[in-house]
Amino acid sequence: MAELNDKRIVLGVSGGIAAYKAAELARLLVKSGAVVDVVLTAGGAHFVTAATFQALTGRPVWTDLWDTHDRGMAHIDLTRGAAAVLVAPATADFMAKVAHGAADDLLTTLCLARDCPLLLAPAMNREMWDKPATRRNVTQLAADGATLLGPAKGEQACGETGAGRMLEAQQLFDALATFLQPKRLAGRRVLLTAGPTFEALDPVRGLTNSSSGRMGFALAQACSEAGADVTLVAGPVALPTPAGVLRIDVTSALEMRDAVNSALAGRHIFIAVAAVADYRPAQAIEHKIKKGAAGMTLELVANPDILAEVAARPDAPFCVGFAAESQKLPEFAEAKRRAKKLPLVVGNLVQDGLGGDSNVVTLFDDAGSHPLPPGDKLTIAREIVNHIVSMTSPCTE
Ligand code: C5P
Repeated sequence: MAELNDKRIVLGVSGGIAAYKAAELARLLVKSGAVVDVVLTAGGAHFVTAATFQALTGRPVWTDLWDTHDRGMAHIDLTRGAAAVLVAPATADFMAKVAHGAADDLLTTLCLARDCPLLLAPAMNREMWDKPATRRNVTQLAADGATLLGPAKGEQACGETGAGRMLEAQQLFDALATFLQPKRLAGRRVLLTAGPTFEALDPVRGLTNSSSGRMGFALAQACSEAGADVTLVAGPVALPTPAGVLRIDVTSALEMRDAVNSALAGRHIFIAVAAVADYRPAQAIEHKIKKGAAGMTLELVANPDILAEVAARPDAPFCVGFAAESQKLPEFAEAKRRAKKLPLVVGNLVQDGLGGDSNVVTLFDDAGSHPLPPGDKLTIAREIVNHIVSMTSPCTE
């Protein structure tokens, strides 16, 4: 295996107990052919020594903003020509600094001065991960284009259990290798829908569902990472827009259909991930409905099927549908694929995917069914993109 042959990776190690996993990660990177420059913060050096990384990478380890080794300005030169900076572990403090553009040691300064992608593998106590300050910083980092790998949920070194565990070295290696894969959708224009829709009943109430939008946003990110030009029509969700993705916010199914139709021209691929409400109230009532009556009857009318309409066009792009079922997944997903005349359907059981961080999906196409390993939604999204690439012809424009 030489997936990262000749790629230079800057591996940042900040001060968390998960730093011990960074040693294994350095080993995996070197084994796959990468040249690894380790930058160790003062905190990181409390957990693992520079000598460990030096022995594993065969290269000098960088610890001080004022170190030069053979380089003039390490904080600039280290990232020039590098494929990526991966910081593992990325502590809460480190992420707070980078989110605010602070530059008070070599690793933070290098992140600010970098001209290559930044990947962060957060590692911290679950309370630290959940705090509003960390949430804000994570949202900001993602909005600024950083890619977050994990964290995982589970038992923590502090003895508590929750989200904040750093991913394992192998998982980080796999994620980086996928991230650095060739831009297999370069030149392709992709349109996606994501999230729920909200069908107004009156000015304050409406019909909606528990779709979080995460799977659709992850797919938009994966398409963008693969080099596609991506537009995402999003129902009402508060997720950050993936880097490089053009987002159009909508509320109802009818608005979503209009936005899709307006953005469809010239698209090569349409991926409908949104959990579109099948029905909407026959009339949206202008004023708030007052309580008092013993009961009420809602009259609903069917919404258009956005995906089926797009797939039925004579100039239809390559259409991908989602089938979230509560039972008989293969049967129902395949029936949906045939009814809507789709080359590819991504099926999952609602109990596995809706609203959560992870998913378990099976792909259905003319060749049969292809179960993917369970994983977080971004990993699965990248696999789905690989499958779409294998089913579509390369861009020749
Ligand atoms: O038929 P069902 O609603 O289960 O199909 C799900 C697939 O169809 C998803 O890809 C979803 O985004 C799409 N869909 C749509 N418009 C609708 C209903 C579903 O685009 N009104």
